[in-house]
Amino acid sequence: MSKDNIRKVYIGEYASHFTGHAAKEYLESYSPESVNSKLHIIQSDLVRNILKKYSNESKPDHIDFACGFGLWLSALSDLTNSKIGIDINESMLDLIPKDLNVTKINSKTDQIELSNLLNSEMRLITSFRFLLNSSPQGSTELLKLMSNYLRHPSRDVAIVNVHGSNPSIRSFSKNVRKGGKQMSRKQLKKFFEGNGFSIIEVQEMQLFPYGLLKKYPLLFLFESFFARVKYVGFGIDKVYVLQRNQ
Ligand SMILES: C[S@@+](CC[C@H](N)C(=O)[O-])C[C@H]1O[C@@H](n2cnc3c(N)ncnc32)[C@H](O)[C@@H]1O
Repeated sequence: MSKDNIRKVYIGEYASHFTGHAAKEYLESYSPESVNSKLHIIQSDLVRNILKKYSNESKPDHIDFACGFGLWLSALSDLTNSKIGIDINESMLDLIPKDLNVTKINSKTDQIELSNLLNSEMRLITSFRFLLNSSPQGSTELLKLMSNYLRHPSRDVAIVNVHGSNPSIRSFSKNVRKGGKQMSRKQLKKFFEGNGFSIIEVQEMQLFPYGLLKKYPLLFLFESFFARVKYVGFGIDKVYVLQRNQ
């Protein structure tokens, strides 16, 4: 994979929102007892269970695209082998805890040479809160790159989250984020399958919008319950488990 390919992928309009001091603010938004961190406890449980199901107790090499301050590298750390975090924002990469032993790659400035770091039987790719926020071209390029790193079609997996649209509670509430990008299940199917992936399973996380959870913390009881039910379609975030086609 050449450096130029990486650069092309990461020309995403989302980058501008997370530069400089915004990295620290993002970390602070995950302070203990915050809505974000309470949601993260529920969500990491869900993603850990997904990973356990596919890894059969072996530890995959983990690449996290748009890793931020390492939220997911950390949440899955005991289940993974080598850890690679790729982000465009150096301030974010600086916030990744040292003891996680993450190889940090700045997609804008670093030469990417991963082959020496990937030696497990299985590879895991994650990308959270990024895919649909990039430009459409950036999203497609990211999928192509992910597919390159998923070497083994029936063993390696990618786990990504996206905002799935209606009929989520958010789409009916006043809290709809203006301009937030969403796709329907049909569009997402086309998007993933059209870029060479098979959808292995879809799960959901986050039933209620952020504003409602902040105002009525009791709603978290439903959040925990919701994360355990089979896909119904109402979730704000969908979690897609993907494998590469042959
Ligand atoms: C909302 S944060 C999500 C971070 C992390 N995945 C998480 O779930 O906490 C979006 C991340 O995407 C990174 N990012 C934005 N544009 C990017 C780009 N063009 N290339 C690589 N990373 C980018 C930002 O620096 C930021 O860390």
